[in-house]
Amino acid sequence: MKIAILGGTGEQGPGLALRWALAGEEVIIGSRQKEKGERVAAELNQELGRPLLVGMDNPSAAAAADIVVLTVPYSAHVPTLESVKDQLQGKIFVDVSVPLDPDNARRVVMPSAGSASQEAQEILGEQVSVVCALQNISAHLLRDVTAEIDCDVLVCGSPKEARMRVIELIDKLNINTVDVGPLEAASLIEPITALLIRLNIRNKVHSAGIRITGLPSA
Ligand SMILES: NC(=O)c1ccc[n+]([C@@H]2O[C@H](COP(=O)([O-])OP(=O)(O)OC[C@H]3O[C@@H](n4cnc5c(N)ncnc54)[C@H](OP(=O)(O)O)[C@@H]3O)[C@@H](O)[C@H]2O)c1
Repeated sequence: MKIAILGGTGEQGPGLALRWALAGEEVIIGSRQKEKGERVAAELNQELGRPLLVGMDNPSAAAAADIVVLTVPYSAHVPTLESVKDQLQGKIFVDVSVPLDPDNARRVVMPSAGSASQEAQEILGEQVSVVCALQNISAHLLRDVTAEIDCDVLVCGSPKEARMRVIELIDKLNINTVDVGPLEAASLIEPITALLIRLNIRNKVHSAGIRITGLPSA
């Protein structure tokens, strides 16, 4: 399984890349600039002590991967999607974006589609399986690959087969997932990140997370 992380050069991408690489997956770091993707991949490989990651420009990374993950600021959501739309056809696309209010990250401004993930589905079309995941886990926690992750990751998306494949990939990171069903639930999942940012600021921490209780065990 090849995973591309578009915008994998920033905060959220590298922790995911390192953890998936350590779990045996092939990971490509995507960037607007090929050289930046290659540089960040080389830095992360240095940390791993093995050349497990490669860097590419975003369209090449999307073309080379089976599953494509997007970790760019919401302001870059639409242009990035449009730049890789052709390469994503027939693939699973995992949207990690949160439409935070640019003036106040403790709030969201939801797009007219309902959520960033639903907006991605509208832009990419029906041949792309969009899954919403990994919004509710902090970059800080992911980046320390020795840290145990004790929060839940909520996952929704359609069709179910695509959602289950993403859940399997996240399970490989020893992160507990909660299956929230079809993509429409993204409008509930994405705003939780603003709540967690609010709690981080109030408590002067970096890794607030959520745990859902009362569900039957899988
Ligand atoms: N950070 C967290 O703790 C966290 C937690 C949960 C969810 N998220 C969500 O994950 C997404 C990524 O967050 P992040 O903190 O990783 O973001 P980030 O570090 O600010 O940016 C990630 C990458 O996006 C690319 N990028 C930045 N501005 C861009 C632009 N104007 N156009 C196109 N690409 C641009 C850059 O890659 P290149 O320059 O290499 O192209 C950058 O390295 C966001 O939607 C955020 O809400 C973040």
